[in-house]
This record gives sequence, C-alpha cells and structure tokens, in this order.
Amino acid sequence: MRKKIVAGNWKMNLSFQDAEDLVEHILELLDKETITAEVIVCPPYPYLELATDYAEEGNIGVGAQNLSPFDAGAYTGEVSAAMLVSMGVTHCIIGHSERRKYFNEDDKMLTAKVNQALKHKLTPIFCVGEALPERQAGSHFDVVRSQVRHGLFHLDTDEFHKVVIAYEPVWAIGTGVTATPDQAQEMHAYIRTLITERYGKDVADATLILYGGSCNAANAEEIFAKPGVDGGLIGGASIKAEEFVSICKQA
Ligand code: 13P
Repeated sequence: MRKKIVAGNWKMNLSFQDAEDLVEHILELLDKETITAEVIVCPPYPYLELATDYAEEGNIGVGAQNLSPFDAGAYTGEVSAAMLVSMGVTHCIIGHSERRKYFNEDDKMLTAKVNQALKHKLTPIFCVGEALPERQAGSHFDVVRSQVRHGLFHLDTDEFHKVVIAYEPVWAIGTGVTATPDQAQEMHAYIRTLITERYGKDVADATLILYGGSCNAANAEEIFAKPGVDGGLIGGASIKAEEFVSICKQA
C-alpha cells in the first residue's frame, strides 16, 4: 500500500504575514485531525524558512517550487538544491507546466534540475500533463510519455525510486475544470505502465503519482479514491487552511 501525499503549491501568492498566518492555521487544524497522508507545503522561496521553522513543530514537509539546474557559484538570482536542503526543505516541484510555459523550461533543463535535486537528497515532485489542444487531438498519452521519458528515464532504479510524479493536465490547472476521477485514473495507470516497462513492476507499484488541477475539498475524495491516485498537488485550494486540511483528510 502506497502512502499518500497531499502537497500544497502556493505559487506566487501571499505576503509574508499571510504566509505565516496560513502555515500556523494549517498546523493548528492538522493538530486536531488524524491524517494518514504526508502533508507538504510549497511556499515561495522567501517564505521557506518560515515554513521549515513551523514544520519542525508540526509533522509536515516543506517543498520548494523550483531550484537551479546548477550546483553553486555565479548564477545570479538562482537558488541551489544544496541551499534548500540546508534550510530543511525536503521536496521540490520540478517541471510544473507554468515553468515549462512561462520560463521555457525544456526537457534538458528539467533533467538537470531532477539530477540536482537527487544529488542533494531533495525529493523531486516531477510534473507532467497535456494542454487542452493535445487532449482534444487525442495526443495526451504521447505528450505525457515524452515528458516522463525525457525528464526521468535517464535515472537508474535507485534514483527513480526517490521521485514523486504529479499528473497535472494543463487544462485543469486553475480553471475549475478538474479531470474526472476516471480520466485521472486512466493517465496514472498509463504512467505506471511506462514505469513498469522501464524499471519493472515493483518500482512502478512503489511510485507515488499525485493528481493536480482544480482539486478541492468538494472533489478530492472521489479522485483520491481511485487506486492509481496517490494524493494531490493542490494549487488554489492550498492557500485556504480549512480547505487544504479538508483535502488532506480525504487522502
Ligand atoms: P489549481 O489547484 O489551482 O488548479 O493548481 C494546480 C497546480 O498547478 C498545482 O501545482
């Protein structure tokens, strides 16, 4: 039985004070609940230390939303995997569709980021997912296959074991149009088939695949009930403490 994860991607939202209030409130609510899923918050860089300080008290992980593909040195504006780890960060989102789209992150860049994360023992949450025209054209499986293969399949088995995948159809992100539980299950099962072909069934069975895209307190339960869905990567609903904790409870 795979452990579930619910990770909140705060994206580029909230003031420092709002971030502190949110993490405090989340921990206060989590404290009152019995939650079996691993809970992770992914605030913007400047709030990571705040989150790691609180995370020590509560039982949550902290993820970054990005990292540098480089190790260290003269890369102005970049934040390295080693820096993140030194602050107590445990996870890092890599390959989010917003970074692919707005920051032109291609397969080569994402491979370098995955390698950096693993080198420094950060768990990558590697995002894949097709855009609406790709789904409409029926090429969603090809798109996701290419993203998974190019981003991850250079890893050896031991390295791959440490990766979490998030399926986030781009048409469902921030739109209020979530994938149906069956659509999520279908793609998660397909990704697991790809992993089986490359690494074998045991590795595929052990790999966590999260769903992301307009997941909220009203639809999480039925999505998480699908056998191939191991929790969620939550955007908008993760910056509302009650709703986020409600989602965590449903995983
Ligand atoms: P929403 O939950 O706001 O659709 O965002 C999903 C997402 O992009 C998480 O990484």
